Amino acid sequence: MTNTIPDCLVAHQRANLIQIPAIIHKLPRLSSRLRREIYVLRDDLTGFGLGGNKTRKVDFLLGDALALKATTVATTKATSFSRNAAAGAAACGLSFHVVLPGTESDQNPLSQSVFAKWGAQLHYEIGDKTALENRLESVVASLRDQGEDVYVLHPGGSDAIGALSYVSVLNEIREFSERTGVHFSHMVHSTSSAGTQAGLVVGQCIANYETQVIGISASRPAPDQFELVYELAQSTAQLLGRQLDPGKIIVDDGFVGSGYAHASKEGEIASQTFAELEGVLLDPVYTGKAAAALLDYSENERFGGGPVLFIHTGGNAGLYY
Ligand SMILES: Cc1ncc(COP(=O)(O)O)c(C=O)c1O
Repeated sequence: MTNTIPDCLVAHQRANLIQIPAIIHKLPRLSSRLRREIYVLRDDLTGFGLGGNKTRKVDFLLGDALALKATTVATTKATSFSRNAAAGAAACGLSFHVVLPGTESDQNPLSQSVFAKWGAQLHYEIGDKTALENRLESVVASLRDQGEDVYVLHPGGSDAIGALSYVSVLNEIREFSERTGVHFSHMVHSTSSAGTQAGLVVGQCIANYETQVIGISASRPAPDQFELVYELAQSTAQLLGRQLDPGKIIVDDGFVGSGYAHASKEGEIASQTFAELEGVLLDPVYTGKAAAALLDYSENERFGGGPVLFIHTGGNAGLYY
């Protein structure tokens, strides 16, 4: 029976694109403002592509693609995941295909420019999610007919392999705690396609790290987000042959504001606070809203007395396009 997270992950190859362990450091001025110890885990600074939680997932997914001897990877949508996947594919010597919604003229020029730099081959499809998926299927079928071994990526990287990356992050946190004696009573991060939270919660169960991982929903109502995290955490735990404790999944949907991808006033205030006190940039869609929760929980005494870890999942590129 394997016991530790490294034991559980040993069978799952990474592409070794990112620099880990992530930097974890104290936010001294924010800590003194909030009168509690606040630390940040800098997944915005892991040194590859556009950074953030997507490069974490890409590292494991492309590791899997390489282990399966894929020659090409394919996915849909113009997201931070697909742009980071394009960077990863380039660095691994794999071809990369992505099906984008709409037409070429509908695309954001900066997004197109980074896809082009990383050699991505772009396909366009007008229509809904099903139309995109059908087009991806036909692109993949035609690549296979040409003799390519195609590895298809989940659009947000949030399948069980992608979620392993955050099982690994939990281990980095555990090691930090062991080295420094700083044990986090709470961790706060943004949750959407669920890979980040599913991985952290499974990691927490394997490592028996006593903490509350609080996923701040970027979009869905809490019951729907809980279900998404639960299903992915179950399949991630199963992949590792371990048990999930669903009681560890905590989702708060109180900071979505007027909806996904719409900046909120609280998020803007939190982003400004992080920037002016600590020089740390946050984005309005994900990390800004998670930081709004961190400030609110602190100010309203919703954390216990222990140190709190803010997981910076990246997204800074979203500040520019
Ligand atoms: C910057 C950033 N933070 C957090 C998230 C949410 O992570 P997950 O999709 O793994 O739930 C995303 C997802 O797109 C993201 O881009």
